Amino acid sequence: MSRRILVLVGHPDPSPERLCRALASAYAEAAEMAGHEVRKIDLALLEFPLLRTMQEFEHGSIPDSLRGAAEAVLWAEHFVFVFPLWLGTVPAMPKAFLEQVMRPGTAFAYPAKGEAFTKSLLRGRSARLVVTMGMPAAVYRIWFLSHGIAGMRRGILNFVGIRPVRETLFGMVASASEAKRVSWLKQMQRLGERGI
Ligand SMILES: Cc1cc2nc3c(=O)[nH]c(=O)nc-3n(C[C@H](O)[C@H](O)[C@H](O)COP(=O)(O)O)c2cc1C
Repeated sequence: MSRRILVLVGHPDPSPERLCRALASAYAEAAEMAGHEVRKIDLALLEFPLLRTMQEFEHGSIPDSLRGAAEAVLWAEHFVFVFPLWLGTVPAMPKAFLEQVMRPGTAFAYPAKGEAFTKSLLRGRSARLVVTMGMPAAVYRIWFLSHGIAGMRRGILNFVGIRPVRETLFGMVASASEAKRVSWLKQMQRLGERGI
């Protein structure tokens, strides 16, 4: 089954040498070859302001530079976020992007009078978080309980209705051999082919 897939590269460093970029491209190219519709947005190439106030969040409009990305978020059935672990969690740049885009009216709606809960507006979509890190992935999972990723999954993605949110973690990136990196790229290609 062909899916509409949005690959979001969340590495703040625009250098093409970053592993995150190679992982995202491997996924996107394999997904396209397999017949999925794919859009890829590299957040490091966009200029956008930090969201600073509740007023702006609730009543402001999405910055012009993010309109295309916001439209792609509504278009997608499946999201693939690729980012490095920074200080235990998602780096500030992709988090700032999500604060701008996952707004009331776009991603969720506050309860109307008499209703108890917020409405998630992005239901029916799924996501995968692909995270690279310096420490062994097992240490992040077991000792740190994947806390930064859990926060993103539950506090942002599940909140707006995106589930399931699956994870692919690549650890000890700095010391990984060439063979290891090639096996990671192949893993991303297999996921891309299946559109998951
Ligand atoms: C500001 C910063 C903070 C980092 N914090 C962590 C961390 O908390 N845990 C960890 O395992 N690695 C940490 N790292 C290492 C990065 O996760 C690692 O360099 C990255 O995943 C490598 O992938 P890349 O080639 O795509 O940059 C940090 C790196 C930077 C620059």
